[in-house]
Amino acid sequence: MATSLDRRTFLTGTASFAQIAAGQEERLVGIGMVGVGNRGTSLLRTLLALPGVDVPAICDINEVNLARAQGLVEKTGRPRPEGYSSGVEDFRRLVRREDLNAIIIGTPWELHTPVAIAAMKAGKYAGVEVPAALTIEECWDLVNTSEKTGIPCMMLENVCYFRNVLMALNLVRQGLLGELLHCEVGYQHFVRGSQFTKDGDLTWRGRYALAHNRNQYPTHPIGPAAWWMNINRGDRFTYLNSMSGNSRGPHLHAARTFGAEHASAKRVFAQADVNTTLIKTENGLTVTLYYNTQSPRPYDLILRVQGTGGIYSGTLDKVYIDGRSPAGRSGEPAWEETAAYYERYEHPLWKRLSGVAASSGHGGADYITLHEFVKAIRNKTQTPIDVYDSATWSAIVPLSGLSVASRGAPIDFPDFTKGKWRTAKPVAVE
Ligand SMILES: NC(=O)c1ccc[n+]([C@@H]2O[C@H](COP(=O)([O-])OP(=O)(O)OC[C@H]3O[C@@H](n4cnc5c(N)ncnc54)[C@H](O)[C@@H]3O)[C@@H](O)[C@H]2O)c1
Repeated sequence: MATSLDRRTFLTGTASFAQIAAGQEERLVGIGMVGVGNRGTSLLRTLLALPGVDVPAICDINEVNLARAQGLVEKTGRPRPEGYSSGVEDFRRLVRREDLNAIIIGTPWELHTPVAIAAMKAGKYAGVEVPAALTIEECWDLVNTSEKTGIPCMMLENVCYFRNVLMALNLVRQGLLGELLHCEVGYQHFVRGSQFTKDGDLTWRGRYALAHNRNQYPTHPIGPAAWWMNINRGDRFTYLNSMSGNSRGPHLHAARTFGAEHASAKRVFAQADVNTTLIKTENGLTVTLYYNTQSPRPYDLILRVQGTGGIYSGTLDKVYIDGRSPAGRSGEPAWEETAAYYERYEHPLWKRLSGVAASSGHGGADYITLHEFVKAIRNKTQTPIDVYDSATWSAIVPLSGLSVASRGAPIDFPDFTKGKWRTAKPVAVE
């Protein structure tokens, strides 16, 4: 059990499986992994540091990645997981195993929905990387399968568990920001290099940038905004407008890195450097959402939430709370440092888990995300990010593409909850 192991043992993932399993065999959660490239491997490391988790099976069509992942598990003293690498559909064999309670999916985007559906149909919780789906049809397939099977599907949106996001959630829920009005958020991350192999060919990410002009990656920033705004739980996204500017970055990168005569430098990429989306909610709130990955810029998710009583800015990590924050010299509202707010309004979940989580990815948020996923599996409860959230946040990918292609026209969000958003309670983050 976790308590019988020292913190370092868990952080380094060196706890022997026998140690972990001791005293809690009946509660051991079996997880199968599909896709252990960069992200899947990082998730696996984090998973192995969680108490009471076993990973007896791993699937990847890349034998090198598969063997690396199997080795990682073995190093913790657990038995070597069975490998599945016989073709692109081999995950279907893995999901049928009886020793699994859940499947974690870290493949390229086009496989997220097919693997999640296979998992749910086999009775296994689906933990799917972002975005969970690429088309509205896939979003509905996830929702319908989860409803029909009664098996939860959680998009593993780790930014929802960032320390500042959770602290801001606490400020929102304790009413410090007043009535919410607007969020400004964005995936602003200079990652255009990941669209090319070292020889200049397109990776799977590059193929999406070649073919589509839209917000390809909305869920990191929209997840926190949706939690703050109680989307699907008292409010819902009704429509969006999306616009894209020029596409420059992919071409510049290819020409500079591989030469002007390289085939990739001659490709015409659809994806704009900057895509901007506006979203309106049923209750009249608004969101500005950016997708900005192709031109050089420091990483910034913005994570700004504004209410009638105050504002939190993730970029600055500062607040202004009306009647509480000191005014500036001119008497105008002025930003206040957040140290005292972290003291007083640190989210209980972060307080409880940040010690053990600290060494995992994204400042500890990856550990907390998987911890919450595993907790739901163990308790046989709904996941905190449910299939409706997974579908709604992912739907921005195709909806923004439709709007961009029609001069920024408003495009409606489907109501994946079929009206349940009116009575659903705010997500329990505890
Ligand atoms: N939440 C986060 O912070 C975060 C960070 C990075 C990536 N991601 C997401 O993780 C996912 C994977 O990204 P990545 O950077 O690890 O990509 P990657 O290309 O490094 O890894 C993908 C892996 O999937 C495997 N794969 C491909 N087809 C398969 C199949 N049919 N069956 C089994 N395995 C298959 C590949 O061989 C590879 O090992 C993406 O959806 C990405 O958006 C999330």
